Amino acid sequence: MDSILDYETVGYDKEKRALVIIDQTKLPNEIEFISLRAAEDIWDAIYELKVRGAPAIGVAAAIGLAVLAGQIETNDKVVFLEEVERQKDYLVSSRPTAVNLSWALDRMMQVCHGQKKSSVEEVKEMLLMEALAIKREDIEVCRKIGEFGLTLLKPGDGILTHCNAGQLATCKYGTATAPVYLGHERGYGFRLFVDETRPLLQGARLTAFELYSAGIDVTLLCDNMSASIMQKGLVQAVLVGCDRVAANGDTANKIGTSVVAAVAKQYHVPFYVCAPTSTIDFGTPTGEEIVIEQRKPEEVSHMWYQKPMTVEGVKIYNPAFDVTSHHLITGFITEKGIVKTPAELCLS
Ligand code: MRU
Repeated sequence: MDSILDYETVGYDKEKRALVIIDQTKLPNEIEFISLRAAEDIWDAIYELKVRGAPAIGVAAAIGLAVLAGQIETNDKVVFLEEVERQKDYLVSSRPTAVNLSWALDRMMQVCHGQKKSSVEEVKEMLLMEALAIKREDIEVCRKIGEFGLTLLKPGDGILTHCNAGQLATCKYGTATAPVYLGHERGYGFRLFVDETRPLLQGARLTAFELYSAGIDVTLLCDNMSASIMQKGLVQAVLVGCDRVAANGDTANKIGTSVVAAVAKQYHVPFYVCAPTSTIDFGTPTGEEIVIEQRKPEEVSHMWYQKPMTVEGVKIYNPAFDVTSHHLITGFITEKGIVKTPAELCLS
């Protein structure tokens, strides 16, 4: 099997002038690339989780906006900027929780507004350059998270992760998986435990696939098994990603993350959040202010089952994320170093 690490999660096709993504809804059974040029298709790809994971969403939206800007037919700068702003507002509405989406799109808009003397054609080119820079920086950030994270781990450690904060959620290495991939290259012999991550199975379909195809020792767990393996002493660290970290350290990540954090606390296992600084939102004081995306009930009742797995009409609760209290988090592994709270980053 090819390693999924050989493929680009998110890219730009120069000839087609299109955003290119791996359609993650088809994984692990099919590796299919799709090219997107229409605003509705890019919005749907983000909403339907064809591209997902906070950093990958940010990069996809940035490249998507550059692709859309490239199709605006006007030489009038004011008309052009209004149209780019409209497309940006549309893309940002696709998912509310991951801050990287608005962070990347705001960065793109700064390029637009900072170029007072440039022509429409020049701004189009600059937007593409900026989107590709965001992508390159994501790779660099993930690698640094990997290097810092590795300093916390020992050869042979058991590591538990939830959801997919892997290469498929970023442009390379992942965040929570970056220390694992770097350690694997250096012979650390980690043992990975991956929660299946109900209801959309990002752990089972994506993380287990990534790690297995990279030759890493990986064991898939149902979401209710973390206490069982921590009780047995099989886990030395939990590494997870994040979608938005509030200023006080409360962290939104895939639904179920806070359960793992509470279990880890119970069994004295360190719980680390791997956090690009682009995912830290100093404008949000605590987890209470983080908007949590609610998704369709069918994701719980119908998806993955030949027949509905519950009685029709029963109430279904389907938040995509939960917030882990900062009290349960041992530290944040960022590209700038390991910190106990986000506030330490402002001092460095
Ligand atoms: O709904 P998803 O699949 O986009 O959720 C993804 C997660 O919760 C990841 O853990 C998070 O985005 C971090 S990715 C490096």
